Amino acid sequence: MYQTLLTSLDNHIFIITINRPDKLNALNKTVMDELSTVIDEAYVNEDIRSVIITGVGPKAFVAGADISEFVGLSKEQGMALAKKGQQLFDKIENCPKPIVAAVNGFAFGGGCELALSCHFIYASENAKFGQPEVNLGLIPGYGGTQRLTQVIGRNRAMEVLMSGNTFTAKEAMDYGIVNNVVSSEELLSRSKEILTTIHSRAPIAVSKIIECVNNFDHTQQGYDFEIKKFGECFATDDMKEGTSAFLEKRKANFKGN
Ligand code: COA
Repeated sequence: MYQTLLTSLDNHIFIITINRPDKLNALNKTVMDELSTVIDEAYVNEDIRSVIITGVGPKAFVAGADISEFVGLSKEQGMALAKKGQQLFDKIENCPKPIVAAVNGFAFGGGCELALSCHFIYASENAKFGQPEVNLGLIPGYGGTQRLTQVIGRNRAMEVLMSGNTFTAKEAMDYGIVNNVVSSEELLSRSKEILTTIHSRAPIAVSKIIECVNNFDHTQQGYDFEIKKFGECFATDDMKEGTSAFLEKRKANFKGN
């Protein structure tokens, strides 16, 4: 169905595997377009309750944007490319269903930005991260300067972005980029395990958590947003079911409405 992606559905978990092994899964125009289409599918398909994004093969998650497509671009075309990348990664970030990046190897440049746009990241022990754009006379354009700074803080982001140095999965975990480092063999099963746990929780509440965390704001605005979303939960059947189940000492059976 797709030229550059493999997809499968396992126990309501939609697994999207970027499949350009000869180019270490670099994000060319086709990958970006197909990712956009497949994420649209994740938004609307009721059989899909969560998503895993990973890369094919043992070596790379995504080795970056496809550098060959940068050649000869004008300033305006560069801006259009960044805008398109940001729109795709915003779509991933704002998906109402949880999206985990299962980083199975190199996550450089656009690959690191793709992982950062997911809701959280599990990585294999051989995974490597970095924003090496400065080596190309570039900066990250798919949201990297913003999301990385939000996740690891200003000073570390400055060092990572200005040096272009790569770092290991363990270091990425110390920085707070990666939630869990596991063996390559276990990466998908452990990612599925946490998503299966999340599937057992109230789906509307899970979506509202994504919205609230994405609307994080140091000012009163973030807290006001939380008040609104908290209130909205009281209008759901799931909230009535969850609280009743607790009081009746039984397991909640959430229907997602
Ligand atoms: N864009 C386009 N092609 C890429 C790519 C990218 N970001 N990353 C890797 N490839 C291609 C290589 O050109 C090569 O293609 P070829 O066999 O047709 O020559 C193939 O993928 C394998 O890569 P190779 O460099 O031979 O593998 P390696 O194991 O020696 O090195 C990397 C792996 C990731 C260290 C190296 O490929 C690299 O530095 N890639 C670019 C990373 C980068 O700068 N990303 C940010 C882009 S904004």
